[in-house]
Amino acid sequence: MTKEEEKMLAGECGKGMQKAMEILNALGEIYGAERMVEISSAQIAGVSYKNLGDAGIEVLNMLADEGARVKVPTTLNPAGMDLDAWEALGFDRAFAEKQMQVIGAYRRLGLMLTCTCTPYLVGNVPRFGDSIAWSESSAICFANSVLGARTNRESGVSALAAAIVGKTPLFGFHLDGNRKAGMVIDVEKEVTEDHEFAALGYYAGAAVKSKVPYFRGIKRASTENLKALGAALAASGSVALYHVEGITPEARVRKDLLEGVAEKVSFGENELRATTEKLNTVDGKVDFVCLGCPHTSIEEIRKIAGLIGGRKVNKGTVFWVVTSKPVKAIAERMGYLKTIESAGGHVVTDTCMVVAPIPEMGFKTTVTNSAKAAHYCLGYNLKVGFGSLEKCVDAAVSGEWKK
Ligand code: F3S
Repeated sequence: MTKEEEKMLAGECGKGMQKAMEILNALGEIYGAERMVEISSAQIAGVSYKNLGDAGIEVLNMLADEGARVKVPTTLNPAGMDLDAWEALGFDRAFAEKQMQVIGAYRRLGLMLTCTCTPYLVGNVPRFGDSIAWSESSAICFANSVLGARTNRESGVSALAAAIVGKTPLFGFHLDGNRKAGMVIDVEKEVTEDHEFAALGYYAGAAVKSKVPYFRGIKRASTENLKALGAALAASGSVALYHVEGITPEARVRKDLLEGVAEKVSFGENELRATTEKLNTVDGKVDFVCLGCPHTSIEEIRKIAGLIGGRKVNKGTVFWVVTSKPVKAIAERMGYLKTIESAGGHVVTDTCMVVAPIPEMGFKTTVTNSAKAAHYCLGYNLKVGFGSLEKCVDAAVSGEWKK
């Protein structure tokens, strides 16, 4: 530890800073970190009152009371509701009041109240090689793999502690040696749509668990494709980093990523079909169609508006397109918002189908093109339909899903 870090640990820089430093020091000792490394940004998960409860609000306010403030640009994951339109969307008032207390505590700590899991689409864009401290598994995967930044799979607590100190212990994915591949995934079927990338990620995540997968055979991939791939990898496995040959940055510049890798699996037509079937448990009426896990980009909203055309959402079906506030603002300017709302759909911000209290709101079925959302909704005992963006939009219009 440097002299300055020792002072922080001794409480000479305030009690809030001391608590944050104690967390990082304990983590560093557990994982054998040689020293701390400066971070350029943080992303904090653990925002929904559904997950935090009253104890979480108390801890956040205690840190703020003790003078803790974030030292680096720090963005916030989705909350349990749309912070503006919660009432119109049917959220409970008591829940909303608690959720706003959570947001108030984060505001006091100096965080940017972005409430999105795609901070890289709204200005939190670390550079190649930057050390960062991000929680939110899909964003971690994107930052490590697509941007080439470096973060461990932080919890909300450890990421917040790192944001307050401005540093994190140097171990795990901050080190070159731990960023090498652990398994090759040969992609034998051409994947082009987001749900296909999501199915590939879901299949590969279960196979690699916490190792680093190295994909071969993917010819091209959009930002949205890679976002879907990483989210699914981190849902079925605990993947924090993946490489795609010829596409992701480290796979382009490092020659040693495949050294010593013996394990290999393939993904073809059969695996795509089996994975899709596994994530499909509904056949018939659907009451909720939700797109945007991770939060939609403006390009995805453009496609959704185009797919709706002049059609109307089925009366018994609620249709959400979930995104961040800035992307919604652009969608409004582009006229996409009007198209979706005139059809009877909603562009919902600040939350998602997993962190919002969806079962409590009375929904029994969810249709999505996200393997991550499908995975978690199955865990909440909802019936799920998983398929292409086009099929999801059609389900919102017809109110029906066919396996
Ligand atoms: Fe984002 Fe919620 Fe999915 S936080 S990645 S939309 S589960």
